[in-house]
Amino acid sequence: MTSRPAAPRRPGLPAPGQPAFVALGSNVGDRRAHLEAALVALGATPGVRVAAVSAAYQNPPVGGPPQDDYWNAVAELVTTLSPEALAARLHAVEAAAGRVRTVPAAPRTLDLDLLSCGDEVCRTPALELPHPRATCRAFGLAPWADVAPDAVVPGTGATVLAHATRLRGREPAAFAALRRVALLRVAAPRGARPAVLPDAEALAAWRARGEGTVGLVPTMGALHEGHASLARRARAACDAVLATIFVNPLQFGPTEDLARYPRTFDADLDLLADVGADAVYAPTVDDLYPAGFSTHVDVDGPTAGFEGAARPGHFRGVATVVAKLFARTRPDRAFFGRKDAQQVAVVRRMHADLDLPGAVVVAPTVRDADGLALSSRNRYLTPDERARALAIPRALDAARARAAAGERRRDALVAAARAVLDGAADVATAYVEVVDPARFVPLAELGAAPALLVVAAKVGTTRLIDNEWLLAPGDDA
Ligand code: PAF
Repeated sequence: MTSRPAAPRRPGLPAPGQPAFVALGSNVGDRRAHLEAALVALGATPGVRVAAVSAAYQNPPVGGPPQDDYWNAVAELVTTLSPEALAARLHAVEAAAGRVRTVPAAPRTLDLDLLSCGDEVCRTPALELPHPRATCRAFGLAPWADVAPDAVVPGTGATVLAHATRLRGREPAAFAALRRVALLRVAAPRGARPAVLPDAEALAAWRARGEGTVGLVPTMGALHEGHASLARRARAACDAVLATIFVNPLQFGPTEDLARYPRTFDADLDLLADVGADAVYAPTVDDLYPAGFSTHVDVDGPTAGFEGAARPGHFRGVATVVAKLFARTRPDRAFFGRKDAQQVAVVRRMHADLDLPGAVVVAPTVRDADGLALSSRNRYLTPDERARALAIPRALDAARARAAAGERRRDALVAAARAVLDGAADVATAYVEVVDPARFVPLAELGAAPALLVVAAKVGTTRLIDNEWLLAPGDDA
């Protein structure tokens, strides 16, 4: 067993601070390299942690002399710096990238705009927050809504999602012109591999030695950038990051893929080292469910339909293992991905009902450059099936476009998504529905609260699920 003490607060890393959002842009030279170098420079800034970054979107320049298309993205930071100090740091990073300020809207190697910092609202000659154009540019709002749809834009009372929906309704062409081109790497020097804790005893010893807050990232392994994004958010928000890797037999049905579920433990440890995870609890089945184990957690309500109906016993298995992981790890925050939206509803319900420790944090879905939601099961897809699976994100986007244009009726929104899925060869749709994200029941109409469009479809032999936010464009944004 590899063992190292639970991480104390790491020297040089700040206590968690407030969230700040930065828009990144580049249209000169190697655009990806400029954006990724900026993320490295920001992450290396004392008092700043990079919690998340959107995909890069390519879009045509607005005004100015003839020039190349931009690549734009939005990064979420956690910072203890003042807004002024952060803005000064952004200018320094721009200057280091060779940015020379000439005429307005001139091509630029790197453009960093502070969109918001905490709840700050200010207008001084040196700094305006939120950024004066934060809510009126598609190339800023689309990636911002990817990383933080539910963040409230300070001073406006409306979320990023609400602003994005409203602007998309007004400027559909600007959103249509955006093209997702790449996932950006948030590179940090690879740290030591996390300590591997093979059983409850090792976990308890690590936990007893630990100091500070613990961020839990529960997984079944076969880690990808979606898991990395959860761990990065945990790293930004907590003193220590504890991942779990356990392929939980209780949540697989008798005809499901338990035996062939991908197991990539060595690569998983490398990925966790890259994001600075401190420890990984990787128990055996006997450690978690010793002989005689006979207690299960049944959550009524959000388990009734959809995945719950298609996979009897699945959520009972998920709830049971997640309850045990909460009990054993006692996290301050536990991070789950929105892609498994019904699982999120189940975990939240159980967490509240059973007074489990810590807080449940839900992070947006990470999509590949072409829009496919990242999933450990994507590796089952042949290249041809993967191409066909893109009908799923396209279907979600078709419904989003209708919602942004003012459509509120569930039937019309579902029909817009179904039309795309039905037009795709060999994609067998299991369901498409508009649901309340907490209760996971169908909604007849969009209202003032965000709803989820949920989809399940089989591509070849692989069942994929995905979802996206829908919101009626109100007058509030
Ligand atoms: O989402 C998953 O990977 C699993 O369902 C979880 C939450 C780790 C429980 O096994």
